[in-house]
Amino acid sequence: MKKYKKDFSNKDFADRYIKKHKKLLEKLGYEYAEKLSSIGFEKGKILDSGCGFGGMDIALAKRIPGCEIIGIDLSDTLLDYANSSVSNTTLKNRLKFKKGDVQKIPFEDNTFDVVFSVNMVHWVDDSIAMLNEMKRVLKPNGYLFIKDLRRSWLGIFESEIKSAFSLNEAKKLIRQSELRRGTFSKSILWWNFEGC
Ligand SMILES: C[S@@+](CC[C@H](N)C(=O)[O-])C[C@H]1O[C@@H](n2cnc3c(N)ncnc32)[C@H](O)[C@@H]1O
Repeated sequence: MKKYKKDFSNKDFADRYIKKHKKLLEKLGYEYAEKLSSIGFEKGKILDSGCGFGGMDIALAKRIPGCEIIGIDLSDTLLDYANSSVSNTTLKNRLKFKKGDVQKIPFEDNTFDVVFSVNMVHWVDDSIAMLNEMKRVLKPNGYLFIKDLRRSWLGIFESEIKSAFSLNEAKKLIRQSELRRGTFSKSILWWNFEGC
């Protein structure tokens, strides 16, 4: 399948992306915070693999005061936005956004208690390399949350959806990766994998 390409280093495109997705990612951050609280996660290290402008991470950090979050991404434009969003707040001590390739995550094995990937699997050149890297840096018994757009008839209205994976394709990708235990779910827009 042809990968969907957009230039996240382009300031105008990045600004439009932020404007369109800010509320959605904030809501997602609060939802994931609730989910983590419900499974007893109160403190530890979280990686957002492909953090974009950090919208989800800021919401998550506000709700889980014991966590430390590192977001990596390749777009300097989005990373600058993310870092400046927290630079004058107390969140800056436990929320860092750094340049890094999700296909070669710049951290040692077993570093993180929780690893997230949101709207990334269909964007990267080598999705399986990304999945394996997420598994590598996750501690044994850590939590992994993957969410990505799901290809469906809604692609008629939104071209990005057309280039995403179907749920069955996502299942095949996960089977080809080193990820093993986990559960899939889907909603009208997304497929999700939660596991380790
Ligand atoms: C659709 S956005 C998703 C970002 C964020 N998770 C969100 O939901 O807003 C895709 C992101 O992938 C980043 N990206 C693409 N390839 C990457 C790679 N190999 N390593 C790190 N980030 C990458 C882009 O810079 C962009 O921020």
